[in-house]
Amino acid sequence: MIETTSAAAGFAPVAATEQALRPHAEDAFADELAALAAADDRPRPARWNMSPWAVATYLLGGTLSDGTVISPKYVGPRRIVEVAVTTLATDRALLLLGVPGTAKTWVSEHLAAAISGDSTLLVQGTAGTPEEAIRYGWNYAQLLTNGPSRAALVHSPLMRAMEEGRIARVEELTRIPADVQDSLITILSEKTLPIPELGTETQAVRGFNLIATANDRDRGVNDLSSALRRRFNTVVLPLPANAEDEVEIVSRRVDQLGRGLDLPAAPRGADEIRRVVTVFRELRSGTTEDGRTKLKSPSGTLSTAEAISVVTNGLALAAHFGDGVLRASDVAAGILGAVVRDPAADRLIWQEYLETVVRERDGWKDFYRACREVSA
Ligand SMILES: Nc1ncnc2c1ncn2[C@@H]1O[C@H](COP(=O)(O)OP(=O)(O)O)[C@@H](O)[C@H]1O
Ligand SMILES: [Mg+2]
Repeated sequence: MIETTSAAAGFAPVAATEQALRPHAEDAFADELAALAAADDRPRPARWNMSPWAVATYLLGGTLSDGTVISPKYVGPRRIVEVAVTTLATDRALLLLGVPGTAKTWVSEHLAAAISGDSTLLVQGTAGTPEEAIRYGWNYAQLLTNGPSRAALVHSPLMRAMEEGRIARVEELTRIPADVQDSLITILSEKTLPIPELGTETQAVRGFNLIATANDRDRGVNDLSSALRRRFNTVVLPLPANAEDEVEIVSRRVDQLGRGLDLPAAPRGADEIRRVVTVFRELRSGTTEDGRTKLKSPSGTLSTAEAISVVTNGLALAAHFGDGVLRASDVAAGILGAVVRDPAADRLIWQEYLETVVRERDGWKDFYRACREVSA
């Protein structure tokens, strides 16, 4: 939430959440969440805003009996979402694993929003994440004047989630140094956070659980200790199964982002999205869609998330400098940037793909020319 009042005089903060550059899921989809909670008569785990069934419906989309349409947030196997939601109702934490851009962060945010109405109890994992970010810190002014006391504690998002019985999130768990990761073990196994300085502890209230995300490609950076891994149920998020799904994911998200950026609504040439997705899928998998030609894969991940940003940038180009219609020339530069990460090896792979696949393809002449122009 954005602070709408401010003690400091002299500036007028912009009110209202609609003004946020990127509203939290619980604000962006407040209407859907309210409709779901109202329609939901199934049993709810302690402190959940809705039943596991309603949470899954929120993620996968559907139509309620009163006609309210719930938009799909996640496109993928229903079972994956069901297992993820169910895990959070047990005493095990949830680990979302996958290559970059498979919606791990996205799913984690929406799960927390639906279950706790709050997706902001978040710890971002980096090589520099300190233990205080997971446990608690101290307000030194308080500490010096009044000595150690509960009032001098600075709660981590996890500690707050424990006290309030909500879902906490840890992003990029495997980037956190192993000894810091291990401070999660007591929290997850004993559901308590010892505060030795005060000779006390904070016990998690029912409803508390944790969603962590980790990148497949980070494996080996700071592997999860086996003690910690045992506290998690791991759910692997796959790449979109087919081109149709991926086109749908990209289109949906691009529309949303475009509205947020006030890009003029314009015909967005579904063709162009399909072509971006096709190029990404073919280079990622190392074969053409018809399976006939083997390709070399470039070093980038070419994730769905990158396809979304290529198309969004293309739309902005078309809106501000073109005729408003997304064309090949608007996405070509973005594609080149996503494909060619390593200037030597990737460039060769891209040139070869252009000349052997794109050039020969029916109806792709404009696309070939646009790509040639930016690659030159
Ligand atoms: N299967 C999917 N269903 C819906 N959206 C997806 C899917 N895969 C990727 N996306 C989109 O990709 C974007 C990036 O996902 P993100 O959660 O940041 O990836 P990760 O955390 O796995 O690297 C999100 O905006 C999401 O909309
Ligand atoms: Mg992520």
